[in-house]
Amino acid sequence: MDTIRAVFSTPILVRDIENSGEVNKRLEEIILESESTTPGRTRSNIGSWDSQKDFFEWPFEEIQTVKLWIARAVKEITLKTTKQKFEPRAQEMLAHAWANVSRGDSYRKIHNHESCTWSGVYYVKSDLVKEKSRSSGNIEFLDPRMLCLQAELPNSSFGSRLRVVPRAGRLVVFPHWLQHYVNPVEDDSLRICVAFNVKIETHTVKLRANSMRPLLHSERQYFSKVSTASAHKVD
Ligand SMILES: [Fe+2]
Repeated sequence: MDTIRAVFSTPILVRDIENSGEVNKRLEEIILESESTTPGRTRSNIGSWDSQKDFFEWPFEEIQTVKLWIARAVKEITLKTTKQKFEPRAQEMLAHAWANVSRGDSYRKIHNHESCTWSGVYYVKSDLVKEKSRSSGNIEFLDPRMLCLQAELPNSSFGSRLRVVPRAGRLVVFPHWLQHYVNPVEDDSLRICVAFNVKIETHTVKLRANSMRPLLHSERQYFSKVSTASAHKVD
């Protein structure tokens, strides 16, 4: 019997949080206040402000609420990806996040996130003028099967992209290795979001980390003399 299986799929969660209006209003104030008093960081962002990666530590109740929304979404996408084998109580989730404020002419270069498990973004505010451009300020994900870009098969998913429109209250979660970028904002609208990384400390990852030791024990060892008495000659 023949089977045709869809393999190498990539999970992406897009969720619109209900009744997030009040939380978003307060988050907007908190983030704009921070933008006006703290120098921004440069990452893949061009023309926009990024905070430090300590957003989850800021002492506001609304930030705890966002953390909860993110934790629930991460739990669900992990359960789906592991065929329900994820046990949140036995596996620790580590996370950090940073706020972003974008106005006209800003964009984000193509990038993926640092080594972790899941990355994502929560939109606090988006005033994009839809009539200006269909793609203005949208986040776009690329097919990670890079050679697919050369595979021409009309109507297939090979080499395709997924474009997600930013909307206040929208939460997006994706694997950290998935490349993406944000199209330039083509109007003067304000967009505020929170980006995050989550690492799931599974038993296997912990075991692997536990089995590793420092290669050298001090910086001095890099420069100390190495005995060559028993060295083999290589021509
Ligand atoms: Fe990103």
